[in-house]
Amino acid sequence: MATRTLLVSKIKDGTVIDHITGGHALDVVKILGITGRTNGIVLIALHVPSKGLGTKDIVKVEGRELEQEEVDKIALLAPHASINIIRGYQVADKKRVKLPDIIRGTVKCGNPACISNSNEPVQSKFYVKSREPLVIRCHYCNYIMEKQDVLNQF
Ligand code: CTP
Ligand code: ZN
Repeated sequence: MATRTLLVSKIKDGTVIDHITGGHALDVVKILGITGRTNGIVLIALHVPSKGLGTKDIVKVEGRELEQEEVDKIALLAPHASINIIRGYQVADKKRVKLPDIIRGTVKCGNPACISNSNEPVQSKFYVKSREPLVIRCHYCNYIMEKQDVLNQF
């Protein structure tokens, strides 16, 4: 397929999440809470040929800028994604997502007996063992979680 032409149109004001790991656009859409019943233009492109990554996905959301919590979740499943803020058709800001070595709060430990799941005020804390494929380990109980386990929570 010719990639010289623009596959999905430009947006006027909003956010473009670009360089999403191929196949994960629909997970990003879910993280953003977008359903067929939410308002506003949303453009989704799957398996677009890309120089660096093989294929990539793109999600464009008109009329919305993302919360940090949403960006932190996207980083877990698409660690190469870029977040482009669009204002008046121009890229006003471009940031790469960042997956830190230690993840606090974003993911819930899958071990029901873990202290981070008790009534104690203990925030979850995971060490990133591998980024792609994602593997994280709980600081408190050593429970290992993979990408699919994390996705099931979102
Ligand atoms: N984009 C858009 N609407 C606009 C402006 C940009 O949908 N009004 C999209 C582009 O199609 C691209 C992304 O936002 O997917 C980033 O735009 P730009 O920085 O111009 O593209 P590149 O230079 O290719 O980005 P990168 O270097 O991050 O690959
Ligand atoms: Zn745990």
